Amino acid sequence: MADDTFSCQDSAVLTILKTSEEVNQLKDVDTILDKILYESRNFANADAGSIFLVEKDSLVFSYVQNDTFFKKETANAALYQNFGIPISEQSIVGYVAKTRQSLAIDDAYELDQTLPFAFNKSFDEKSGYRTISMLTIPLIAQESRLVGVMQLINAKNDMGKVVPFTEEAKTYIPLFCNNASVAVERGIMNRELILRMMQMAELRDPTETGAHVQRVGAYCAEVYGTWASRRGHSAKEIKRERDNLRLAAMMHDVGKVGIADAILKKPGKLTDEEFDNMKWHTVFGARLFKNQTSELDRMSMEIALCHHEKWKGRGYPSISNSEVWVEDTLMGAEPKNGEKIPLAARICAVADVYDALSSPRSYKDPFPDEKCLGILESDAGTHFDPEIVEIFFEIFDVIKAIRDKYKEAQKN
Ligand SMILES: [Fe+2]
Ligand SMILES: [Fe+2]
Repeated sequence: MADDTFSCQDSAVLTILKTSEEVNQLKDVDTILDKILYESRNFANADAGSIFLVEKDSLVFSYVQNDTFFKKETANAALYQNFGIPISEQSIVGYVAKTRQSLAIDDAYELDQTLPFAFNKSFDEKSGYRTISMLTIPLIAQESRLVGVMQLINAKNDMGKVVPFTEEAKTYIPLFCNNASVAVERGIMNRELILRMMQMAELRDPTETGAHVQRVGAYCAEVYGTWASRRGHSAKEIKRERDNLRLAAMMHDVGKVGIADAILKKPGKLTDEEFDNMKWHTVFGARLFKNQTSELDRMSMEIALCHHEKWKGRGYPSISNSEVWVEDTLMGAEPKNGEKIPLAARICAVADVYDALSSPRSYKDPFPDEKCLGILESDAGTHFDPEIVEIFFEIFDVIKAIRDKYKEAQKN
């Protein structure tokens, strides 16, 4: 009996160690949250869960999974909701953030009236979902910094019946979360580093805003997820690729730091010569990733270099990877088209153009959905990979949710 208990604990610890190692290999904060929530739910056999991250004095809704409502591994607009809850004792997540203690509730509708917090029934009322058991855990990183709060909902037994969370889940999931919180913090830092790098490009080219690159990154991640699941790629592989793609796509125009202000900031139309000069941002961007130490570097180079290539050819710069490093390399030396253009860049091309069409510019208002989609459709098969455009249409509700989440900050 004692041996059985030991081996059970042993396997729980092994699972946590293995999963922690996998989490540590991820770079983008959304992929990290997805993995932490998925593995925690798996461990507790919980039907749903969400993660809130700390931003100033509130907890901002940052990730959700729900087996009852959403299919796994498909694009999901619910991920891009925008709302925050104050860190106060009145809500369950706020209470856990304040006390920094995990909290298990067996039935959300039978809470003791003397408790300071109450269960917010609005989601259940709107959706018809029935929350019963809950396990809410603070995410605490190094130096006791509170990063966020994870909430698991409705643990199920082998028969699929909702039951209270087990002692094992209450013990081991918080342990896993302690390790995982460090990864979350690192993911936030990675995203911020890239945003800062892009702010440098934004200083040069005002159309490359933080919101634009966040949207392009998220559009690319979602389109890729659907593309890869159509081909039956494993969930693990999809997550890894999507993780790199999101960050790499954010850096598509980083090479603009090498283009003269007179061209980048010219209010009117560029002359042919100026436009030829502008095309070099693709090569300058690719050159930033010369010392490739990771898959992220490789993908960032592909996207920076090839996001203006066209499916039928005649895009730019159309040079091979090795020619990037040649000082006086010639544009158009190696015509690129179709699948010779890396997938990541084919996806980024659609996302970047769509975002330019649907965003305001100094010379135009945002185009309405119909007009944006009409342009993508008519350019499918010439400028764009037709399957990528098809997927873009298929997940357009998710695209719209992303567009609403990352809005342009008002400029003074
Ligand atoms: Fe570009
Ligand atoms: Fe862009």
